[in-house]
Amino acid sequence: MQVKVIDHPLIQHKLSLLRDKNTGSKDFRELLEEIAMLMAYELTRNLPLEETEIETPVARTRCKVLTGKKLGVVPILRAGLGMVNGVLRLIPAAKVGHVGVYRDPETLKPVEYYCKLPTDVSERDFIVIDPMLATGGSSVATIDMLKRKGAKNIKLMCLVAAPEGVHLVNEQHPDVEIYTASVDERLNDHGYIVPGLGDAGDRIFGTK
Ligand code: URA
Repeated sequence: MQVKVIDHPLIQHKLSLLRDKNTGSKDFRELLEEIAMLMAYELTRNLPLEETEIETPVARTRCKVLTGKKLGVVPILRAGLGMVNGVLRLIPAAKVGHVGVYRDPETLKPVEYYCKLPTDVSERDFIVIDPMLATGGSSVATIDMLKRKGAKNIKLMCLVAAPEGVHLVNEQHPDVEIYTASVDERLNDHGYIVPGLGDAGDRIFGTK
C-alpha cells in the first residue's frame, strides 16, 4: 500500500477533534482548514526553487525563490471545498478547478456531473482534494479526467483514507502520491469509513 501518512502531532490532534461527533460545524470547518494548510506544507515540500539576487538593508545576496511552477487545486465536491482555503493560504497563486462526481445507483460507477478546470491543465501540477478516500471511485474518476486533459503530475490530498480507496488509487494511478492524516480500518456496509468521522460534507455544511 503506497500512501504517505502525515503523522505530525498538530495534524493528529486536530484530526481527533474532527472525529469527535460532538464537534460542531464551525469548529469542524476551522480545524479542517488548519489541517489542510499543514498538509499543504508537506505536499509542497519538493517544489522547485531558483536562485535570485536581492538587496537586504545590509548587503546584496543570492537567495532562493519558487520557480513559479503553475499549480492547480481540484477539490471534489462537496467535502473537498472544506480543505481548499487552507491550501490556498500557502499557495495563493494556485488556480482552483471543481469536479462533482456521484455514484450511479445502478451501475455503481462514478458519473461526473460538474467539471470546471483551469484552461491550461497540461501546464500545471495538480493537487486533487478528496477528504474521505472511501472506495476511491471519485478520486480515480477525477484523476482519469485530469490526465485525459493533459495533466502529468498529480498528488492526492485526503484527510482520512480507507485501505480499499488507497488500493484502488494505487492500482489505477501508481504515479499519484496519496497523502493522508490517517489510514483507518475499513469501510462499513454503507460505504462509510470506520472509525472515520461520518459524512464530511454534512459536518462541514451542517446538513443532514
Ligand atoms: N464520505 C464521507 O464523507 N465519509 C465517509 O466515511 C465516506 C465517504
